[in-house]
Amino acid sequence: MTGCKVKLLEECQNVLEENRRGDFTIPSPFLYPFQWNWDSGFIALGLLHIEPEKALLELETLFSGQWENGFLPHIIFHNAEKYTSYFPSADYWNSKVSRFAPKDLGTSGITQPAVHGFVLEDIIKYDFDKDRIARLYDQIVHYHQYLYEYRQFKDTHLVAIWHNWESGMDNSPWWDSVFKRIHPQLLENIQLKRKDVHAVDDSALTRPTDDDYKRYIYLVDQLRENRYERVPADFPFQVLDPVFNAILIQSNRSLLRIGKMLGKDTSLVESWIKTALENFSSIHWNADDGLFYTFDILANSQVKIHCSGSYIPIFAEIPDRDQLEKLLRHLEAFKDYYLVPSCMPDQPGFESKNYWRGPVWIHMNWMIAEGLRKYQEHEWADRIKNDSVKLVEKYGIREYFEPFKDSNTSIGGKQFSWSAALTIDMLKKQSG
Ligand code: DGY
Repeated sequence: MTGCKVKLLEECQNVLEENRRGDFTIPSPFLYPFQWNWDSGFIALGLLHIEPEKALLELETLFSGQWENGFLPHIIFHNAEKYTSYFPSADYWNSKVSRFAPKDLGTSGITQPAVHGFVLEDIIKYDFDKDRIARLYDQIVHYHQYLYEYRQFKDTHLVAIWHNWESGMDNSPWWDSVFKRIHPQLLENIQLKRKDVHAVDDSALTRPTDDDYKRYIYLVDQLRENRYERVPADFPFQVLDPVFNAILIQSNRSLLRIGKMLGKDTSLVESWIKTALENFSSIHWNADDGLFYTFDILANSQVKIHCSGSYIPIFAEIPDRDQLEKLLRHLEAFKDYYLVPSCMPDQPGFESKNYWRGPVWIHMNWMIAEGLRKYQEHEWADRIKNDSVKLVEKYGIREYFEPFKDSNTSIGGKQFSWSAALTIDMLKKQSG
């Protein structure tokens, strides 16, 4: 490893250390002061290279916020009284409206992509107490059972999300047409107390607008009124997201292997994988365009916008060879940009600096590159990993990055934990 890379590795380790709060890691100081669900999964992958015990603790602490019905919230508000720098706060979510929520710990009432199964599979490569692993395994299976019980679309074993924050891709153009369904009149009384816009530079260019945010809060209000349990048939945000569903399949594949190792009955997990794979392409694949798209349940149609999420099924080995070739042909057309823009520069809604409307995200790149290796596409995987490391070296350990090669501004949250964690993983793996 070169001197520069050794320095970068040290910087990444420092970020993870500074963002550690006891037994968990916050995503970024100021912007995100609590524990976030899928962030913690990716953070654990970096911690494994430093101190594996911390990686296991990261997941165990996350699951301390699991609800009795298996639901796993997207934010666990540890030390809620200490930090006022996040909106919507624990009080705003008021998870106590649910009979299933923990009594002594505030959480949000929506979830995030189910990364925990595949993360646990990496954790068990280290020598841990079998009971701790078995406990986490059961908790993850319980979470997936929640998803199928409450969110399953028809009998597909594909699950619906009810909020853009559940996708993790907050203001992706994938949600633009869905949000048009919420009439502006419904937003008139919504009071925003946003903190995020004060925590980053140039927030007008790099964060969602107030109009967007009012819609996000409108959905939260509706979900809270329904005690975060079920949604009415006409609930405006009901979407099948190929990112969420591919990650769930990948985690189930891991659960199957871990379960066998633990001597569990894995027939249920096996059936989830089988049915989801049988249905994935008919919902998400668009043969004319050669891309995977999100599916809007109320409109009964795909949202045909080319985003980095279109490539995440590669991570779960979902595309066949023909589909993969088509996807790679698309990527080839964007070789003059840093790969992989969250929304492609030729798409409606692209904004180079704005959060999920163009910028490159390290964890998306990590998943795409990991998937490409399984197809023996090492050249492509290296290209994406090298772009990722280059971006972090050039602009710092930020939340996201402009895809233009000649950009000269750093954007998004600073000291960002998953960018640090996955850069560590990429550097360590590259250097064998
Ligand atoms: C935010 O607050 O920006 C998050 O992405 C929601 O989890």
